[in-house]
Amino acid sequence: MNLELRALTRRYARALEDFLGGGGEAALQEAYHIGREALARGLGVHDLATVQQGALLKAMLGVRTRREGTRAIRAAGKFFVEGLLPFEMSHRQSQEANAALRESEERYRGVVDTARDVIFTLSSDGKVMSLNPVFETITGWSRAEWIGKDFAPLVHADDRARAVELYRAALTDQASPRFEVGVELGILVKSGATIPGEVVATPLVRDGKIVGILGVARDITDRKRAEQALHHLNEALEEEVKRIAHALHDEAGQLLASVHIGLAEIARDLPPHVAQRLADVGGLLNKIEEQLRHLSHELRPTILDDLGLQPALEFLADGVSRRTGLHIVVEGSAGARLPAPTETALYRIVQEALTNVTKHAQATRVSITLTRSGRQLRCTIRDDGVGFDVRAVHARRGARGLGLIGIQERLHGVGGTLEIVATPGGGTRLIMAVPLEVDRAESNLAR
Ligand SMILES: Nc1ncnc2c1ncn2[C@@H]1O[C@H](COP(=O)(O)OP(=O)(O)O)[C@@H](O)[C@H]1O
Ligand SMILES: [Mg+2]
Repeated sequence: MNLELRALTRRYARALEDFLGGGGEAALQEAYHIGREALARGLGVHDLATVQQGALLKAMLGVRTRREGTRAIRAAGKFFVEGLLPFEMSHRQSQEANAALRESEERYRGVVDTARDVIFTLSSDGKVMSLNPVFETITGWSRAEWIGKDFAPLVHADDRARAVELYRAALTDQASPRFEVGVELGILVKSGATIPGEVVATPLVRDGKIVGILGVARDITDRKRAEQALHHLNEALEEEVKRIAHALHDEAGQLLASVHIGLAEIARDLPPHVAQRLADVGGLLNKIEEQLRHLSHELRPTILDDLGLQPALEFLADGVSRRTGLHIVVEGSAGARLPAPTETALYRIVQEALTNVTKHAQATRVSITLTRSGRQLRCTIRDDGVGFDVRAVHARRGARGLGLIGIQERLHGVGGTLEIVATPGGGTRLIMAVPLEVDRAESNLAR
């Protein structure tokens, strides 16, 4: 018997003696306290039973009659139960905690098992530790084929280095921000095909130590297809725009030229004052021709192909300015030429943004600012108009126009991002950032 137990036994014996001698409620309280202390010191029920046994034996030594003995044993039983009470309570609590834990585990398992995204864990040496059932549906592999294996061969060879980088970053806890921005990786499926996946990862922490990573991978095949479709649509649209621009420029131009000739012929046979009025009409026709020519160049400016984004934007701004009276400036510098898809996308975006300013903003001034910072081009379009409630417009799904969505999607197509800063009454700013290299998304599309 160790020291602790011995001290407790003595204390218990004293209290029991006290209780048998008529100590009442106070002695019972002491039994309860002894029980609590025993529990706190990590002693078990069997220890307390031993203590009770010793104390009872000692008490029985002083018993003289059989009746007295029976009474003492009964009372000692009651005393013992009181001492056991803390054990009973703690047992019940742990049972409840266990039930709650089981329930929460079941709930968690339910979420993981029915998730549509692949949820996986990797060990700190890169082995697959767990995969949820949807992994089998998406990839055709069985989970058993990968559990315990190195994860890297699941990733397309082109993306493997990036996957390992993401894994290492997550493992060293530098990955938390990445939980919002997924990394696109090609995932090899059983059929031999590659499907595009978007993966986010975060460290897996157990007892305050990182023991691996927890990741979520989403099959983004549909999104990629939609992007591809949009890409083709935009290309088709560009072709169509080119055709209309030519029609406006060449065919309408030729028709107008014929009208000029016709008018001149008629004027020859007319008295001078009527001929003068025809000449005025001719002047108007010239203006129309000029406008048509400008419009057709704005639609598909050869200037964009020949000289680049900045001169094309200046040309566009000039035309819109003349038609609407808006004061528009193009500031900053785009630097060297950008990839053609990026130049076209930005031109179309500015075109739509200026249309929005004309239609909605009641502005007087617009600035278009181009700045290069590192490997990014930033383009900001700012107006001093009435502004708008961006969130409300975003919430107006379906009912809203296609302009802002189109801007967003065109940007996405070239790997860019959009931020809209607008408040009712405070003007509007569209802030765009586009990577200067041809975007990976594009090269992914080609694969
Ligand atoms: N520069 C702007 N100034 C004020 N409101 C704007 C501006 N740009 C967009 N908006 C608001 O956002 C809405 C959505 O624009 P958009 O998607 O281009 O659709 P649409 O122009 O066809 O209405 C507009 O209806 C307008 O209320
Ligand atoms: Mg619009």
